[in-house]
Amino acid sequence: LQHDYEHYMLKEIFDQPKALEDTLANRLTPDGVQLPELEKVWMAEALQTLRRIDIVASGTSNHAGIIGKKALEKVLGLPVEVSYSSEFIHEHARLDEKALVILLSQSGETADTLSALREAKKWGCPTLAITNTAGSTISRKADCTLLTKAGPELAVASTKAYTSQIAALMLLSLWMAQELETGDEEQREKLLMALNRLPRDVDSTLVMTHDAIDQFAQLIDDQEHLFLIGRGLDYVLALEGALKIQEVAYIHADAYAAGEMKHGTMALITPGVPVIALATQQRVFDKTISNIKEVKARDAFVVGITRVGDDLLAEEVDEVMYIPDTHPLLMPILAAIPLQLLAYYSGKVRGHAVDRPRNLAKSLTVE
Ligand code: F6R
Repeated sequence: LQHDYEHYMLKEIFDQPKALEDTLANRLTPDGVQLPELEKVWMAEALQTLRRIDIVASGTSNHAGIIGKKALEKVLGLPVEVSYSSEFIHEHARLDEKALVILLSQSGETADTLSALREAKKWGCPTLAITNTAGSTISRKADCTLLTKAGPELAVASTKAYTSQIAALMLLSLWMAQELETGDEEQREKLLMALNRLPRDVDSTLVMTHDAIDQFAQLIDDQEHLFLIGRGLDYVLALEGALKIQEVAYIHADAYAAGEMKHGTMALITPGVPVIALATQQRVFDKTISNIKEVKARDAFVVGITRVGDDLLAEEVDEVMYIPDTHPLLMPILAAIPLQLLAYYSGKVRGHAVDRPRNLAKSLTVE
């Protein structure tokens, strides 16, 4: 693979092994997760009485938040709600000092998220910023900051900041569970080991999917519609894939929870329409296969993305792409790679300014 990149977006997609390595470095230790920046007295106290967690973020950061929610709920057993910052400002559940509000923002400057932070503070909530920008407004105003260390992200479309945010949320989940002495230790150990391997797995994913995605983008260069389907975490990732493809390639891309298509949207599946079927979650693999059969029966062109070793998918789809097998909570990081590459190559083949998509700005400082 060549390393003199034509655009920042491609460079930043390829930066991900390093971005993740830096985000995890010195935080994963043989004894567990170490986050000295969160060990302030208030945090230790706040944790003991925590009743709920709200994750508040916009756009791609919101999608990372939904994956974080699944991890936090699993290891902590606390209810976690994810809101768009622009919605949270006006509508939220009861807030008080027992509700931790996490502000997730790559830039740390997004006006909607900053307003959400003010709202949280008004109700006396402890606040934690997760951001890629030390010294940003959100970081300065929140009680505590956990930094992602993705390095500067210059392309408008977020790639390495997104995967680093997910990694940071995994660290946070593990750290909180340690502090609260809660959850299943064996499960935590499995996630910890998978995080250790993550940068290498991302590197392998880039090699395994790059060329096939480049070709696929050319194959669908005249398509105006594209669908992404998946269940569970695959559905959450489908939301992010659709956003990225809309943003950079200007294709009408829609994400569906795979089991929901039969409840209304199946009429949109017409012969030849490209469908990306995400099937990385073993728990729902068989059910996803049934949904893939439904779209295949309507002659969609289906590309399946699954884990190495899940050979059954190949029989059901037009093309299959394999990615390494890892902990289910980390599969969305690996499966994000081919979707980011698809957004990039589809935008490029259509002649768009991939680093500066129309009508968008990198940092949105108005509500
Ligand atoms: C999409 C994208 C945006 C941002 C959103 C929030 O690729 O980059 O959706 O994720 O504007 O920005 P931050 O994370 O800086 O608050």
